[in-house]
Amino acid sequence: MSTTALDLPTDQHQVPLQTGLSESGRASIVDHLNEILADHYLLMLKTHNYHWNVRGPLFKSMHDLTESQYEDLFGAIDEIAERIRALGFDAPGSFEAYSSLSKIKEAKAGISALEMAADLLASHENIIRNMREALAVADQYEDEVSIDMLTERLKVHEKAAWMWRSFNEK
Ligand SMILES: [Fe+2]
Repeated sequence: MSTTALDLPTDQHQVPLQTGLSESGRASIVDHLNEILADHYLLMLKTHNYHWNVRGPLFKSMHDLTESQYEDLFGAIDEIAERIRALGFDAPGSFEAYSSLSKIKEAKAGISALEMAADLLASHENIIRNMREALAVADQYEDEVSIDMLTERLKVHEKAAWMWRSFNEK
């Protein structure tokens, strides 16, 4: 009879990964994914904040755009965290961890709709730059699954950045 995960003794927490990716390579990729996960979580919170608090003539367009973006970010958070687990590491999941991992600034109170758009643009561009670094590392270790996920996310964030940038263009 073959052994399944459920048959393992309760004190055996770690089953070695034998997927062809070295532990040091997986750790290097996860270092970047941890920051990107934290970026996503903090940006989701900020996007939600501006969804609630935006005022003025741009209310409808920003209220709707922020809603579609925080929903997308929520889904991506789960995908990134589960990729970290598949690479053999625990996924960070606390505001304390996210605050120390991410350089995304918290939402500002009392700012105009256009200032919110500029702030969201800066956050998406921050994530885009982090993803390019993560992609280079995932490429170095030939982690095609992370490359695929990051490329897909890069496309989403570049589109979001274009939209927020356009709010402040004439
Ligand atoms: Fe809402």
